[in-house]
Amino acid sequence: MKTTAAVLAAQGNEFDLKEVTIAEPAPDEVLMQISGVGLCHTDLAVRDGHLPFPLPGVLGHEGSGTVVAVRSNVTKVAIGDRIAASFNSCGQCTQCQAQHPAYCVEFMERNFGGARSDGTSALEGDGQQLGGNFFGQSTFARHAMARERNVVKIPESVPLELAGPLGCGVQTGAGAVMKSLNVQPGASLLITGGGSVGLSGVLGAVARGVKTIIVSDPIAQRREFALELGATHAIDPLGTPLSEQVREILPEGVEYVLDTTAMETVVEEIIDVMAQRGHLGMVGVPTNAEAALSVNLLQKQSRGLTFSGIVEGDSDPDTFIPELIELYEQGKFPFDKLVTTMPFGQINQAIEAQASGEAVKVVLVHE
Ligand SMILES: NC(=O)c1ccc[n+]([C@@H]2O[C@H](COP(=O)([O-])OP(=O)(O)OC[C@H]3O[C@@H](n4cnc5c(N)ncnc54)[C@H](O)[C@@H]3O)[C@@H](O)[C@H]2O)c1
Ligand SMILES: [Zn+2]
Ligand SMILES: [Zn+2]
Repeated sequence: MKTTAAVLAAQGNEFDLKEVTIAEPAPDEVLMQISGVGLCHTDLAVRDGHLPFPLPGVLGHEGSGTVVAVRSNVTKVAIGDRIAASFNSCGQCTQCQAQHPAYCVEFMERNFGGARSDGTSALEGDGQQLGGNFFGQSTFARHAMARERNVVKIPESVPLELAGPLGCGVQTGAGAVMKSLNVQPGASLLITGGGSVGLSGVLGAVARGVKTIIVSDPIAQRREFALELGATHAIDPLGTPLSEQVREILPEGVEYVLDTTAMETVVEEIIDVMAQRGHLGMVGVPTNAEAALSVNLLQKQSRGLTFSGIVEGDSDPDTFIPELIELYEQGKFPFDKLVTTMPFGQINQAIEAQASGEAVKVVLVHE
């Protein structure tokens, strides 16, 4: 069938709304009509050439909507169901079997390979195959193809068009705090970068009852918003050194840190201000693929420090998204506060709004 998609022709380009063809679902696939799709920094990492993906192609990886077609082997969802799509995984490897699908051994090819496992793409435009299956979905479009394994049902309590970010940015920030770092109530947490991932981390920390929640961001609007969401302190990293500001609040240093900036200079300052036995989680995608960390081994050993790379907050979407929705229903996880909606056709303006800090998480909605 024909549908409309925001096609990225080449690195550095703007997105162009174009008519494309989307195939019939394969046996395990789910064709969805999109209601809304969030804009995540990872889409821009592809546009800017920091993450390889075959172009021309269709990005978009926080989509939600309604099932419009499935084949008979799909049993998890049926036509008419309200769903959100998340990342794809194989379901077979050791990590998938242990409910850690974000660390699937096939994560890269199944989410950023641009095609199904057999090399075909569900999308075609201007007579050529388009890079598709981005994050197992390519949802910058009116219709998109996901698979049974990477969709989750969304109850009536959640506005359908807002549910997409649960599948990436929101579960990443919240999961990093609640699952990967497993920050305990009463502990102290520093979050560097108060964008959509960092602020989802704040929501997760507030839901957990974390005692001290410090957010560092150079944008004043984001610091104010962090405090509104329940952070206990918000600091500007561009004035006094970060470590000095944190030690003023916590003289022994901070127990947990979630870094969303992936900036070497920021991570160096963080290591300086970690408490004994501190744990640092890193979710950011560095803009420089060669970015590296030089760590003093004696310091790391003697201070008992732990550093963890984090994918998708170690979420198993089938269990963690319903957990977040339950907290949302109880009023303990108001992730919708992070969202600004804009019409799908304004995708390029939406990128500007998010980059300037005016919006934290834009969700592009179809009328
Ligand atoms: N690991 C994963 O699974 C995963 C999932 C989603 C997103 N990501 C990545 O996480 C990162 C954050 O995503 P986002 O959507 O929140 O991005 P964002 O751009 O909305 O947020 C980044 C924030 O960092 C702030 N910042 C800039 N310089 C800073 C500094 N020196 N100190 C403190 N803060 C600073 C910015 O002002 C901004 O608010 C991106 O790299 C994204 O690609 C990773
Ligand atoms: Zn994302
Ligand atoms: Zn796997």
